[in-house]
Amino acid sequence: MMMVPRPVRHFGQLLIALLFLLGIKTWSNSSFEVTQEKGRDAILRKSTNLSGGASLPRAPPEGAAPPAPTSPPAGSTVLVLSSVGRSGSSFLAELLSQRPNTFYSFEPMHYYEKSTRMALSPRLAWDIVEALSSCRLEEHWLRTTARRGLLRSEAGAICQTTDAELAVSCGGESCRNRSHLLVKTIRMRVSWLPELLLRLGPGLRVVHLVRDPRASFSRILHIPRKCSFPQDLFMVDTVKKLFPGAMASVKYEDLCLDAEGVATDLWRFISGDSTAALPPSWARYIQVHTAPSKAGRGAYNTWRDSQKEAEQWRQEIDEDLLLGVEKSCGQVIELLGHNKFHSLANARNWSFPLRRTPRALYSHIDVP
Ligand SMILES: *[C@@H]1O[C@H](CO)[C@@H](O)[C@H](O)[C@H]1NC(C)=O
Ligand SMILES: *[C@@H]1O[C@H](CO)[C@@H](O)[C@H](O)[C@H]1NC(C)=O
Ligand SMILES: *[C@@H]1O[C@H](CO)[C@@H](O)[C@H](O)[C@H]1NC(C)=O
Ligand SMILES: *[C@@H]1O[C@H](CO)[C@@H](O)[C@H](O)[C@H]1NC(C)=O
Repeated sequence: MMMVPRPVRHFGQLLIALLFLLGIKTWSNSSFEVTQEKGRDAILRKSTNLSGGASLPRAPPEGAAPPAPTSPPAGSTVLVLSSVGRSGSSFLAELLSQRPNTFYSFEPMHYYEKSTRMALSPRLAWDIVEALSSCRLEEHWLRTTARRGLLRSEAGAICQTTDAELAVSCGGESCRNRSHLLVKTIRMRVSWLPELLLRLGPGLRVVHLVRDPRASFSRILHIPRKCSFPQDLFMVDTVKKLFPGAMASVKYEDLCLDAEGVATDLWRFISGDSTAALPPSWARYIQVHTAPSKAGRGAYNTWRDSQKEAEQWRQEIDEDLLLGVEKSCGQVIELLGHNKFHSLANARNWSFPLRRTPRALYSHIDVP
């Protein structure tokens, strides 16, 4: 566990509790995912009920024989977190999943929205990541998740079958067989991280991904009344200060501009080796998936003409949405080091740069 003097630790815990409460308070507005909007009241009720919470997946009752080998994967756990959908997190997570021996869980909380009436609470989110990190996987979750292709490895979906038994044995075994865990989610808030980082200890690394809100909104196709990003973004720095070396932030536009550079920093951050070169599997992935000729579209498409892809929204967004998002998310656009366009003509004009300076202004990856 973390070696910090006692008073500091107590202070830290107090701060974490405060942050967590703040996170719950602001959470109702911190996401514009339709599904989360719908379940908002239930979520808030659940997330403030610290005595109850999740029933799935759960630890075996005390005294019960432990289920077949539950040895946690020996290696690291990496959480890829993004505040909203359509921000390139599939692309980033698939790149990270190229690490040999990785068990990759794609949106593990999706199950609760689609298969249960359970709303996602912070506690449930912590329990899921913790259960994954020790391969304590509940059977129905495993079956549903495997069938939907949400269990993955570097080769794509694994254990994808309608045979329930096979899915359970394959999913459990794959989790235990592989030494690294990768979890991608857009359903967790940054303010929930301190508790998770305490629970999982120093083996957990978090990568927070952010993208220009005009790009994310241009695909969601509605004008936000209020920008939902800031709470999550401003919390990132606080979590980084509380848990030095545990969290990195990446701006999607930086990843597209310099995939190899950003990936190298990420690899050093995850592996803890400050001079490590990019693993060949990551280098290969970047080479193949950022080749212009492979450009494609679609919600979870990871084949990108990366640089063009990052700014393609400029050719598609309409004026109302552009001006609306620039007004409501001005603070975030500023923080990311991007220009506001103020008109459709400027947005469409490639000579008008998105970035205020050519230098990356937001991505920050502490290489050990
Ligand atoms: C959330 O948004 C609603 C309406 O948009 C507003 O009344 C409320 O004060 C907001 N809550 C927080 C915590 O920002
Ligand atoms: C809190 O959770 C407990 C245990 O699940 C439950 O019995 C109780 O009714 C819940 N309270 C509220 C206010 O939802
Ligand atoms: C797990 O590892 C064992 C032993 O190496 C192997 O026989 C088995 O096929 C692996 N299972 C999966 C699902 O990868
Ligand atoms: C595009 O932007 C550049 C740089 O701001 C400007 O000089 C040029 O006049 C613009 N072109 C059009 C067609 O608006």
